[in-house]
Amino acid sequence: MVEKNLDFRSDTVTLPTPEMREAAANAEVGDDVYGEDPTVNKLEKLAAEIMGKEAGLFVTSGTQGNAVSVLAHTQRGDEVILEAKSHIYVNEVGGLAVLGGLMARTIPGELGWMKPSDIETAIRAPNIHYPRTSLICLENTHNAAGGIPLTVEQMKADWDVAKKHGLAVHCDGARIFNAAIALRVDVKELAKYADSIQFCLSKGLAAPVGSLVVGSREFIDKARKYRKLLGGGMRQAGIIAAPGIIALTKMVDRLAEDHENAKLLESGLREIKGIKILNPVMTNMVFIDVSGLGWTGREWAAACRELGWKSSGYSSPVVRLCTHYGIEREDIESFLSGIKKLVPKV
Ligand SMILES: Cc1ncc(COP(=O)(O)O)c(C=O)c1O
Repeated sequence: MVEKNLDFRSDTVTLPTPEMREAAANAEVGDDVYGEDPTVNKLEKLAAEIMGKEAGLFVTSGTQGNAVSVLAHTQRGDEVILEAKSHIYVNEVGGLAVLGGLMARTIPGELGWMKPSDIETAIRAPNIHYPRTSLICLENTHNAAGGIPLTVEQMKADWDVAKKHGLAVHCDGARIFNAAIALRVDVKELAKYADSIQFCLSKGLAAPVGSLVVGSREFIDKARKYRKLLGGGMRQAGIIAAPGIIALTKMVDRLAEDHENAKLLESGLREIKGIKILNPVMTNMVFIDVSGLGWTGREWAAACRELGWKSSGYSSPVVRLCTHYGIEREDIESFLSGIKKLVPKV
C-alpha cells in the first residue's frame, strides 16, 4: 500500500516504503569507519556494479557526495567548469570555495548541457598567471533546466573535450536513474562518460537518507578520506544503507510512473489559461509560470493548500512541481479538476 504524499515541492519528500522500514529494522550492522558494516559494504558494491565502476562510497547526502568528489579530483586554487545553474554552483553553500579553495568557471547551458566548444574555450591554457583547470562537472538530470536528461551523446561530447585536455569529469547524478529511464538506456552508458558520479537514494528512489559516489578504487579511497574530514564517517550505518539497497533493486523502474504523471500534470495545466509551461517535461518536473493568472507563487501555493496539496510558492511567479512515489495518477487527475475550479478566469 503506497502511503499518500500529496506534495509537489520536491522528490526529496518521499517516504520510505514498508519494505524499507522493515529492512532498516533488521539490518545487519557493524562499524563502517572500520569498513565492518556488511550492509553498507553490500550497498557500495551494488552501486558500483550498477554504474559499471570499480568502487562505491555511501555518503550522507547529495551535497556531501558532490563535495567529496570535487575535493578528490582537485587541488586548492584549481578552476572547475560547471553549468551556470548547476546545483553544485548555485545550491551547495559555496562548498567549492569554502571547502576546496576552488574557483568556479560557469557556462550557461542549452537545457542544462554545456556545449563542448564552450567548455573548450573556458579551459585555461598553461600560463603562469592562470589557475589550473582540473575538473568539469555535469548534472544529469539537470534540475534547474527542468529535470532534463543529458543524452549519452551529450555526455560523451563533453567527456571527449575533457579528456583531450587531461581533465576529470564528475557527474552530479542526483537523479541519474530518472535520466536513464527517460532515455531508455542502461545507466552504465551514461556513467561511462564520467570519472565519478554522485547519485541520490533519498529522492525519487524513496530511501530515507543518503547518496552514493562511484568511481575508480583509487578515487573512492581519496573520497572516503574526505568524507571522514567532513564528519561523514558513520558507524552502524547499515540501518540507513538497508533501505538504499531496496531503493536500487526495487524502486528504479517505477520512476517511469513519475514521468507519466508529470506529463499528465503538464497536459492538464496546459489547458488552464494563464498558466505557462516553461520546460520540456521529460522526467518528473514541471516548471510553470502563473503570472498570467495575476498570481505569484504564493497564491498558487495557497490554492494548492486548499486542495490538500503542498507546493512551493514564493514571490516569483515561477514554480517547480515534482512528481514522485506517493503521488499516483488518480491524485494528479483529482488535483487538476480541483485547481481548474480555483484559478481565476482570465
Ligand atoms: C541536482 C542535485 N544535486 C544535488 C542535490 C543535493 O542533494 P542533497 O539534498 O541530498 O544534499 C540536489 C538536491 O535537491 C539536486 O537536485
